[in-house]
Amino acid sequence: MASSKSSLAIFLCLILAVLRNVVLEAEARAFFVFGDSLVDNGNNNYLATTARADAYPYGIDYPTHRATGRFSNGFNIPDLISQAIGEESTLPYLSPYLTGERLLVGANFASAGVGILNDTGVQFNNIIRIGLQMQYFQQYQERVSDIIGPEQTQALVTQSLTLITLGGNDFVNNYYLVPFSARSRQFALPDYVVYLISEYRKVLARLYELGLRRVLVTGTGPLGCVPAELAQRGRNGNCAPELQRAAALFNPQLQAMINSLNSEIGSNVFIGANIQQTNIDFISDPGRYGFVTSKIACCGQGPFNGIGLCTPLSNLCPNRDIYAFWDAFHPSEKANRLIVRNILSGTTDYMSPMNLSTIMALDAATNSRIPHRPSAHPTELKTSRRLKIEVKVLCPPALSRSHTSEAPTEPQTSGAAKYEELGCGQGSCMDEDFT
Ligand SMILES: *[C@@H]1O[C@H](CO)[C@@H](O)[C@H](O)[C@H]1NC(C)=O
Ligand SMILES: *[C@@H]1O[C@H](CO)[C@@H](O)[C@H](O)[C@H]1NC(C)=O
Repeated sequence: MASSKSSLAIFLCLILAVLRNVVLEAEARAFFVFGDSLVDNGNNNYLATTARADAYPYGIDYPTHRATGRFSNGFNIPDLISQAIGEESTLPYLSPYLTGERLLVGANFASAGVGILNDTGVQFNNIIRIGLQMQYFQQYQERVSDIIGPEQTQALVTQSLTLITLGGNDFVNNYYLVPFSARSRQFALPDYVVYLISEYRKVLARLYELGLRRVLVTGTGPLGCVPAELAQRGRNGNCAPELQRAAALFNPQLQAMINSLNSEIGSNVFIGANIQQTNIDFISDPGRYGFVTSKIACCGQGPFNGIGLCTPLSNLCPNRDIYAFWDAFHPSEKANRLIVRNILSGTTDYMSPMNLSTIMALDAATNSRIPHRPSAHPTELKTSRRLKIEVKVLCPPALSRSHTSEAPTEPQTSGAAKYEELGCGQGSCMDEDFT
């Protein structure tokens, strides 16, 4: 009898420890990712599509040395941003492992092949277009709400960081996909860019409506200089001029649109990450960044290894760190590191209106000044109250003490007092843990 009572106590305390972890976990900043193959970390593995990176040699330098769906030899840009903000990588939204507490880390909704427009990437069949990515994000919020309640969910979303990467495919896999494409017959290039920007503006406005308040928006790279374009359209290894012209029109208009959205909102919600500038750095002076080439892909075949896909039968370079491009379109992990270094601490040439370090510092100051949030979800309080009573009666002191040591910021609070706070039922307990 006594032993079953004490194992019940331990069991209840473990439940409390788990609940507390859920709350602590949510204190860290959630990270959301939307967009295309530059940021997809495996959603397409779960879809019947040809746009996938789930076979060797993709992932050859990833910690598991296995293909994950990332279009990289190792980490991609979202992974490296997660690392920079002290988080584990977000899981693809379609992953069956994205459940429970893992949801509180954030989620990656990106899908290789998509663009701003619905008709971009049609040749890949089942990809998650941007509209559906945002619907999934709404669904995500409902799922998180079932765990931590609607108000905490709103706080998690408000305080999160988001990355969105779109636009490259609207040129490469739409306008320029085939000669005389439907879009190129409909629009002259400058008009097409204006149309893309107006559609992208709607996407960003929708992200704001969905509660996101810090959104990094990347420009397109120098589209004409990727190995695929050097091989197909470039002359004598020079960047393909029409795609360069597309990027040169798109990126400044994207930044202008971001500025206009921010001034309409009255806050710097959207941050332009001018990846174009970074890529131009590698391309104009690869040696300075430790690359032997920025023209030849590490994995591929044909001129510049720029023809077709990267497959087990492709040429593969032995040292991925000295290639700017991993495959015909996507940067190597090493290049991704340089891109993320600029996102984090680049000057205003790269990041506008400011870099991620500055954002993090600003938000840390703001978030710590946010007073206790309004009381938690009623059902959650009910649960806490019930747990409190049981815990007060049953918790073994040793367990309480060791648990307190996990919260060194509040050294004066004893284990028991901490538990009372957690289950206090006055509407302030959960909030306190959340701030
Ligand atoms: C793209 O498709 C979605 C979902 O079908 C639709 O809501 C949206 O209006 C479409 N966008 C454009 C620009 O046609
Ligand atoms: C970017 O970040 C670094 C710190 O990492 C900071 O020193 C620098 O001033 C920032 N640059 C701009 C232009 O905000």
